[in-house]
Amino acid sequence: MIADPDIQYPESLALAQLPTPLQPLDRLSAQFSGPRIWVKRDDLTDCALSGNKIRKLEFTLARALAQGCDTLITCGGVQSNHCRATAILGARLGLKVHLLLRNDESGDDGCGESTVQTRAPDGNLFLDYLCGATISIYTKAEFQARQQALFEHWSQHYAAQGRKAYLIPTGASDGTGIWGYIRCVEELIDDFKHTDIAPTHIVHASGSGGTQAGLSLGCALYQLDSQVLGIAVCDNAAYFQRKVMADIDHWQMRYDIAALPANVSVQVNDDFIGPGYSQAGPEVFAAIKRVAALEGLLLDPVYTGKAFHGMLELIEQGYFEQSDDIVFVHTGGLFGLFAQREQLSF
Ligand SMILES: Cc1ncc(COP(=O)(O)O)c(C=O)c1O
Repeated sequence: MIADPDIQYPESLALAQLPTPLQPLDRLSAQFSGPRIWVKRDDLTDCALSGNKIRKLEFTLARALAQGCDTLITCGGVQSNHCRATAILGARLGLKVHLLLRNDESGDDGCGESTVQTRAPDGNLFLDYLCGATISIYTKAEFQARQQALFEHWSQHYAAQGRKAYLIPTGASDGTGIWGYIRCVEELIDDFKHTDIAPTHIVHASGSGGTQAGLSLGCALYQLDSQVLGIAVCDNAAYFQRKVMADIDHWQMRYDIAALPANVSVQVNDDFIGPGYSQAGPEVFAAIKRVAALEGLLLDPVYTGKAFHGMLELIEQGYFEQSDDIVFVHTGGLFGLFAQREQLSF
């Protein structure tokens, strides 16, 4: 591992199985006359804890413990991978977890009605319950209108019981969470050395912006000459430009960083959002089936399948050079596939 003495990491917990492997997808690459595709297997950061959130939560939860918190409150969609990771880690660390979940009316969210469940919880929600999290499900309208007020309400509720809650924003994407993907860049540099490649692009799914903020900032800090390309799965490119820079500003303020590196480059493609967050068209499900059958790599329809499909489309459009190596960061999300399994026909 290359240690840069100038980058002072804050305290973190060792929760993820790191480093994750970097693997070539040669059968898939051969089907395109394009770049060589590699995958950084962050879906292997742990078993049920798999995915990108655990890298962020290593820093976020260290901060929560340092502040003497005994309760975690966080939020997300009803099939949120981040909420599932928080529920599991809370159980692992002996912390109470309360999840504020948004029921995105349309699409199969895996739980049925907004506050009344009509059938057994599925996918991530099933694991949330299994790990003993307290769960409050809100309609999309209520969640959006009252998100901050809900955090405050529940925080006061626990304070009245003598507990101390740590509030984690959506996706743990803030100035603390992004350390996880700054550190991942250090790991990638090591991977590239061992495989003797110099990838031109690092591609991944962007949902709440923290992974992109960490990777983009990390590349600038470590002077890694690969372009990070976030493929938006929900909001447009302008939103992600603002959100990523806001997370980086928060990082700079919270950790008293004198100056940002000059070369932070935030590139987002919003051509592949499709019908909306957690809704994917048949082309995404086709890509999921193709990659699973050809490479044994499992993608989900909400994040990685959508972004991977976008990357394959960009390859077909000639966006990358044939001589390029490109790396797809697999950020996990497998349980979201189970919640939408009806969309796949065999
Ligand atoms: C599986 C998966 N991939 C990618 C993302 C996107 O990461 P970020 O929220 O940091 O943009 C998320 C969460 O939003 C996720 O759960």
